[in-house]
Amino acid sequence: MSWRLGFIGAGVMAETMIAGVLFEGVLTPDRVVASDPHASRREVLTETHGIRTVASNVDVLDCELIVLAVKPQSLTKVFAAIAGRIPADTQVLSIVAGAPIRSLQAGLGHQRVVRAMPNLPCRIHRGMTVWTRAEGVHGERIAEVLRGMGEEMVVDEERHIDRATAVSGTGPAIVAEFVKSMLEASNYIGMPRELSREAVLATLIGTAEMLKRDDDLHVAELIDAVTSPGGTTSRALQVLKQGRMGAVVTESIDAAYRRCGELGDDLEERLKES
Ligand SMILES: NC(=O)c1ccc[n+]([C@@H]2O[C@H](COP(=O)([O-])OP(=O)(O)OC[C@H]3O[C@@H](n4cnc5c(N)ncnc54)[C@H](OP(=O)(O)O)[C@@H]3O)[C@@H](O)[C@H]2O)c1
Repeated sequence: MSWRLGFIGAGVMAETMIAGVLFEGVLTPDRVVASDPHASRREVLTETHGIRTVASNVDVLDCELIVLAVKPQSLTKVFAAIAGRIPADTQVLSIVAGAPIRSLQAGLGHQRVVRAMPNLPCRIHRGMTVWTRAEGVHGERIAEVLRGMGEEMVVDEERHIDRATAVSGTGPAIVAEFVKSMLEASNYIGMPRELSREAVLATLIGTAEMLKRDDDLHVAELIDAVTSPGGTTSRALQVLKQGRMGAVVTESIDAAYRRCGELGDDLEERLKES
């Protein structure tokens, strides 16, 4: 337990990761440091988690693992402050949406870079993080840190991070939109609010849990199991098909995927300009 973990940017996601790492006992608070321009954020993190906080990004560079947790538009400012100053052995883990490894390496002047895409349920330790690494990066420490927020999966191909950004990163909003529609529909047919909330959420969690627990259970089999000839489910599914639900979900996720590519292109452009 001798290594140190540093954060550049101490916002929502940094705090989520810090809480996970401390909760899982991966590190003690004295091994964690975070930098942020806002004194109020620094105070909150020190008071809540007992970690050290600093105003300058340079003061986290002595950590063995540094997490980049700023918004995409703040990246070039971070590069300007720390480029070429990171020790060669240090691992840098970026959770910045859309920032490709090659741009991070070029901007930081550093090779050992990992790119990860966590999602919102990481806040309750039920998240999903998909990650990939540059050549020569050992993943054990990274996996340990990410497991503090839920499930993690490493992939070889970087394009899968853009895909995960669209599916699991954007996914909580898409699922929440579906939950909202289910709640509105329950209201429409006269179900009491409290009952609707319980019925919709328990159905969602139960169905997902069933699929997750049984690798051999295909989604189509589950649908077939609740669809009897001439029954209620068959009527409901027919209406979803008429509304092109499957096609609309595909278009929505594809739009998020394409936007992720655009964010990467924007960053490359800004790097060329700077
Ligand atoms: N939130 C999510 O669910 C989620 C999921 C997956 C990935 N991500 C990614 O995680 C990253 C962080 O997201 P977040 O929601 O945690 O953002 P956030 O709450 O805005 O946190 C970023 C923090 O970094 C600070 N900052 C800005 N410039 C800085 C600099 N040069 N040096 C140090 N700190 C700086 C920000 O200050 P200012 O407010 O002044 O800019 C802010 O306090 C984003 O790139 C996002 O794409 C987020």
